[in-house]
This record gives sequence, structure tokens and C-alpha cells, in this order.
Amino acid sequence: MKALLETWAASNARFETLLEGLYADHGEPQSRLFEAMSYSLNAGGKRLRPFLVYQFCRSCGGREEDADQAALAVEMIHTYSLIHDDLPAMDNDDYRRGKLTNHRVYGEATAILAGDGLLTDAFRVLSEAPLPPERRAAAVACLAKNAGPWGMVGGQVLDMLSEERKLTEEEVRAIQSRKTGCLIKAACCLGVICGGGGEAQLKAAEAYADRVGLAFQIRDDVLDVTGDAAKLGKAVGVDEKKNTFVRLWGLERCGALIEQETKTAINALFVLQEPGILADLARYLANRDH
Ligand code: IPE
Ligand code: IPE
Ligand code: MG
Ligand code: MG
Ligand code: MG
Repeated sequence: MKALLETWAASNARFETLLEGLYADHGEPQSRLFEAMSYSLNAGGKRLRPFLVYQFCRSCGGREEDADQAALAVEMIHTYSLIHDDLPAMDNDDYRRGKLTNHRVYGEATAILAGDGLLTDAFRVLSEAPLPPERRAAAVACLAKNAGPWGMVGGQVLDMLSEERKLTEEEVRAIQSRKTGCLIKAACCLGVICGGGGEAQLKAAEAYADRVGLAFQIRDDVLDVTGDAAKLGKAVGVDEKKNTFVRLWGLERCGALIEQETKTAINALFVLQEPGILADLARYLANRDH
């Protein structure tokens, strides 16, 4: 685990440097928008998705500088999804990443626009990745497919529409695989694309992401019940009306499933050159407290 935490910290340090330059004040008249976008981007967060991009890129023989734009783009989209997820019209949350939510600081209209700004600008950033044209196009398509109505946005709408009734296991899985799974999958597959991996690596990334993504959302639901708000940086006990995995299965079965999914995720990595860190990451996420 030591190697994992050191590698993750190094990836985050690189990532924070990239963020510094992103919305530096150039005296633009819409500086308030950039401020709101930067507020949420710089609020911290685990930076799991950028780390996945870097690790999959590395495991396909790629360099960090090939993956910077993809790492930024996926975290920008993730951050926008959190800003919108916290809005009064959605989960109506006051804290995120240990700070007041974006709309609590900047107001709802600016928070919506900050999300719009991050979403759109993510594609500008990704389009500047130093990759051959076919790989750049594949990267843009991968992110768009996983972030949009076929992916994360699709999952968010299903989650919202299902608040008034109790869902089946299949329906809960359909929500999870989209609202959380798809951006995790985008991160893993973008890493492979940036690193120049082939079909076998892409398949491994998808299989790993499917399993890790499911375990990640089950753990998120468990932490809403058993977690500590100070560690999580967001309120707990807010999912009472939601169709969470805990409501579906109870805490004990959730724990067993996280274990099972984590093992399957690790098995999917065998085609990669250096699967060690990614295997440790899956194990770490299964037991995370934030
Ligand atoms: C939270 O994601 C939202 C879910 C998809 C469950 P993270 O737990 O990765 O949030 P940050 O980025 O660390 O804040
Ligand atoms: C959010 O799921 C997933 C996305 C933001 C796309 P949750 O609503 O469970 O995430 P938290 O618990 O607010 O972080
Ligand atoms: Mg939500
Ligand atoms: Mg939420
Ligand atoms: Mg949650």
C-alpha cells in the first residue's frame, strides 16, 4: 500500500500543478465564472479519476505528459457533475469536499454556469492532447459517450426519477453503472488511449472499471450510513429517500459484494505490464473512509 499512496500523491502533485495554470486570472470580464469553476476544482477531492488515467497510461507504456489533458478533462467533468448533483433541484447538499457547495457560495445561477463551463471546457482541453489525430478523436468520443446521456447524465436522471418508488436490483445497477461507473470507465479507457494500448488493454480497462465502479458506489452508499462527515467532506445520512445499495441489500451484504467485485477487478488486470498499483488501488478503495 505504501507504493500506491506514494504514486497517488505524486500523480496528485502533478495534477495540482496543471490546475494552477488552468484559470489563472487574465483580467477576463467573466472572472466571476472562472472563480466559481476554480473554487470547486481546487476544493480537493481524491483525484481518483486523474490517477486512473495516469496509471492506465503508464501500464500501456505511455508517458505522463501524454495523459495530462485527459486527466484534467475527466476531473473537470466529474467536478461539474458534483456541482450540479449538489444543487437544490437535485440532492440539495450544503457541503462538498469539506467546503460549502458551489451554489451556497456563488448562487444557483452561477453554479449551473460553472458546471456548464467545466463540461464544455473539458473538451477544449482534451482536444489539445498531444496525441495522433485518430487517438485524440477516440479520446473525445470516449469521454463524450461516458459523460453524456448514454452515461453519467443518463444515470443521474434515472436516480432522480426513481426517488418515489422502490427499485429492483437490476434497476439500481442500471443507475450505478451510469451515474458513477461511466466516468470511472472513461478515466481507465482514456488512460489506455493516451498510452497507446490496444484492444486487449481496453477490454481490461473496461472490465476493471465496471467492477471498481460498482464497488465504489456501494462503498459511497455504505459511507452515507456508517461514515464520518468530517472525513468525507460531505454530509452523511442524506440518502434516506434514495434507492441505494444499502437499502437494497443491507450493510453486511454490501460489504461482501465490495470484496467480491474488488477481486474480479484485480483479475481483469492480468494483460497489463504493471498491474500492481491498480490492484492495490482497488483494494484501497474497497476500504476507503472518504
Ligand atoms: C463522489 O465521487 C461522487 C460519486 C460518484 C459517488 P468521489 O468520491 O470520487 O469524490 P471526490 O472527487 O473525491 O470529491
Ligand atoms: C453522484 O452520486 C454521482 C454523480 C455526481 C454523477 P451521489 O449523489 O451518491 O454522490 P454524493 O454522495 O453526493 O457524492
Ligand atoms: Mg446524487
Ligand atoms: Mg449527491
Ligand atoms: Mg452518495
